[in-house]
Amino acid sequence: MKAIDIRNKYLNYFKAHGHKIIPSAPLIPENDPSVLFTTAGMQPLVPYLLGEKHPEGTRLTDYQKCVRTVDIDEVGDNRHLTFFEMLGNWSLGDYFKEESIAMSFEFLTKELGIPVERLSVTCFAGDENAPKDEVSAECWRKAGIPEDHIYFYGKDDNWWIAGEEGPCGPDTEMFYDTGKEPCSHECQPSCDCGKYVEIWNNVFMEYFKDKNGYTKLKQRNVDTGLGLERMTMLLQGKETPYDTELFAPIMDLLKEKTKNDNIQSRRIVAEHLRSSMMIICDGGRPSNIDRGYVLRRLIRRMTRHLRKLEIDLSELSEIIDKNIDNLKEMYPELEENKSTIKNVIIEEKDKFIKTLEHGEREFNKIVNRLKNENKNLIDGKTVFKLYETYGFPPEITKDLAEEQGLEIQVDEFDKLFKEHQEKSRMGSEQKFKGGLAEQNEKTIAYHTATHLLHKALQIVLGEHAKQKGSNITTERLRFDFVHPEKVTKEQLDEVEKIVNEQIKRDLKVTCEEMTLEEAKKSGAIGLFENKYGDKVKVYTIGDFSKEICGGPHVEHTGVLGRFKIKKEESSSAGVRRIKAVLIKE
Ligand code: ALA
Repeated sequence: MKAIDIRNKYLNYFKAHGHKIIPSAPLIPENDPSVLFTTAGMQPLVPYLLGEKHPEGTRLTDYQKCVRTVDIDEVGDNRHLTFFEMLGNWSLGDYFKEESIAMSFEFLTKELGIPVERLSVTCFAGDENAPKDEVSAECWRKAGIPEDHIYFYGKDDNWWIAGEEGPCGPDTEMFYDTGKEPCSHECQPSCDCGKYVEIWNNVFMEYFKDKNGYTKLKQRNVDTGLGLERMTMLLQGKETPYDTELFAPIMDLLKEKTKNDNIQSRRIVAEHLRSSMMIICDGGRPSNIDRGYVLRRLIRRMTRHLRKLEIDLSELSEIIDKNIDNLKEMYPELEENKSTIKNVIIEEKDKFIKTLEHGEREFNKIVNRLKNENKNLIDGKTVFKLYETYGFPPEITKDLAEEQGLEIQVDEFDKLFKEHQEKSRMGSEQKFKGGLAEQNEKTIAYHTATHLLHKALQIVLGEHAKQKGSNITTERLRFDFVHPEKVTKEQLDEVEKIVNEQIKRDLKVTCEEMTLEEAKKSGAIGLFENKYGDKVKVYTIGDFSKEICGGPHVEHTGVLGRFKIKKEESSSAGVRRIKAVLIKE
């Protein structure tokens, strides 16, 4: 069975069981600086797991594009991927363990035809926060899983939460027995020798965790996730995802072109290229911070391995074409964005080659100096300097150092790098919120004006007029919001008047950090979707507005100048767009 057939079977099965198929959310969460990429199907659904009503009802299913970056350095082995597709189904306060397990069992054994003997399941063993999950175990027994294929584990294995805080609960996981010999007589699903492969995770989300501990959610939810690449590989009896149709044509093409074959390098090129294409397709661009830096690393690492394979870099364009061709049935958006994808990757590759040449010269000077001094360690400061001043990535420094029989001081570099990342993170939180390309006095002023506009629209049009998008340049602000019809001239005048009044009042702008729940309670407006876990910042403008936002903002509204709406138009169905400027007087 091909990956696309598994995906379709999955969606159709859950559709037939009363679920609405919802679209995959973008890989890059909109207006959400708190996470880099969408990492699980549940992520865009957090508000609904917490109790908000979903417009499509209480049973949902989708395929979700995901990127997880913690394992980036592991890619090249036989299982780690940075981009993957997660099939999921959800009950938002609807069915619970019994129905969820019955459907999973039926789907695996009947729809996918997996023999029962191949399946093992794990359930939560219980602790001070939640009882042993005998209910799930009983459901599995009833379905037909033999007793000796049911295991109980603690929180480390059978409890799921995204990050540190948020909705969570015990889970039950399904494992596929590959038929390999057990590694020892103690070999069981928790063992990572490769005999058992986890294929599906059903989380029974009825708890909420914050720093004070666990509380019960308003409703009992089910959140499930099935990794498509892994399932495809298992059903096809393949050893790695690279042997499935998702990667095989690219792996073959690289093999044809290489003058120095190395399977790890080919896997890294194939995987990182797919991931980069998907990220770019959803709006990601290379940069030195956060998401952009992940993308940059992916493209650099891919380029480095193309060089190792001694594949002429001018062939990259053809390799991308082939990759898009191979994946377009599953992701038609790749074909639609083909020229952007190619331009971004090739431009970044070119930049990297320049950096590499530039850094290599500096690196050679360092090597000569060290050799003259009879030393064999490049200290962390020097590694960091190569990174910061010459844009020379530490992973490359390490590679080149090894070739010269030198070591690099990793700890010290990591420390300096973390400090640098932290600074960047703080900066980028601010940038991503407004979709800002750069942060300066003008964009900051527009940012504050956007909050005033948002609130004024809610006063004049009603509370439904919620933000749908925001984009700021040094020239103007652009704000998209929910409203079913054209905003009248009178209403626009009124909005303008209210905003200018708040500017005249010279209100103080203050910022506080709190959890999302506290922010909601405090009456802050803003985009609640996709945000969970970490604390959020709430910006208050006098007695006028309170909004969740990464900032930054002006200190007093008096500095904004005069606010003028230039244009009001339709943005998409049910969404209006306003463009406005600030005029210095
Ligand atoms: N959210 C769960 C996971 O990612 C299903 O494993």
